[in-house]
Amino acid sequence: MTVQTRAGAVQVTGEVIGQRRAGDYHVLTLTAAGIPELARPGHFVALSVGGPHTSMLLRRAFSIYSVQSRGVYGGTLEIVFAAQGKGTEWLARLHRHDTVDIVGPLGRPFALPKEPVSCVLVAGGYGSAPMFSLADALRARGCRVDVVLGASTESKLFGVLDAKRIAASLTLTTDDGSVGERGRVTDALPAVLRRTDADVVYACGPMPMLQAVAKVAADHGAYSQCAVEESMACGIGVCMTCVLPVVGDDGVTRMLRSCVDGPVFRGDRVRWDDVGTIPEGTLGGPVSGGH
Ligand SMILES: Cc1cc2nc3c(=O)[nH]c(=O)nc-3n(C[C@H](O)[C@H](O)[C@H](O)COP(=O)(O)OP(=O)(O)OC[C@H]3O[C@@H](n4cnc5c(N)ncnc54)[C@H](O)[C@@H]3O)c2cc1C
Ligand code: FES
Repeated sequence: MTVQTRAGAVQVTGEVIGQRRAGDYHVLTLTAAGIPELARPGHFVALSVGGPHTSMLLRRAFSIYSVQSRGVYGGTLEIVFAAQGKGTEWLARLHRHDTVDIVGPLGRPFALPKEPVSCVLVAGGYGSAPMFSLADALRARGCRVDVVLGASTESKLFGVLDAKRIAASLTLTTDDGSVGERGRVTDALPAVLRRTDADVVYACGPMPMLQAVAKVAADHGAYSQCAVEESMACGIGVCMTCVLPVVGDDGVTRMLRSCVDGPVFRGDRVRWDDVGTIPEGTLGGPVSGGH
């Protein structure tokens, strides 16, 4: 069954084509008629978890790793996830032919440069999932693409082979030094930016990593685009669970919803230190001393 929503996303019943392990992650392939045609790099999908009689009401959000619009099964998509809670553990137990309700594609994708510029893609853990379709789109526009992938340890790096396929250069970092350079992506990033003279940095991963990447990019004079992972409830802009403070072109801070205004934001516009709060002066926010 496919239902077209007003926002341009569709709701479909997907069938599991397969599930494989990749290090500490699961890669789930689902039929998803109609989603591949609409999906752009940076979009995400929201999956219902737990089956028809579950108490888990909220959908879980996942970046789209890859899509295929044609093939034996019609439109398919792949997500990459870490089984870290009840919902993802349920997904990890799915077998071929099981079904999952999918809504997508959701959110706003990465903005692509109009000119062929030099881009560095930076990702932490499963944050690399949306980066490979992004790299393909950038390369199709004549952009140079260099990649930095990081994780705490080798088994938490995702997509090293994909990255080797698409990147002009690949830098790997692990906190424990099990592969690549020991340390964080932001330790390696300044040298990559200097070497490539990058104009744009694209990033996806944990919030502290994004904050640090946005700062390194700004210090280098590069424009940054960060895909944030704020906790979400509705995923469609209704509940305001996923808001974070972002400065607009007019210099005014607004609480934007990462599900519909993001998840991709300009790194220099997010007030990273104030995430989780409504900072003083935010449009529509509480006024101190008011009634
Ligand atoms: C835009 C976006 C893209 C994401 N992409 C991926 C991905 O590609 N792979 C992946 O493994 N995970 C991804 N996540 C995180 C993923 O949604 C959570 O890990 C997942 O919801 C956990 O569900 P759970 O039931 O297993 O865990 P629980 O901890 O039992 O979840 C309980 C509640 O907390 C919320 N929650 C818990 N952790 C997170 C989190 N880190 N971010 C947002 N909500 C959370 C859940 O939605 C749920 O409502 C993404 C999140 C967002 C917002
Ligand atoms: S998750 Fe409900 S508004 Fe974003």
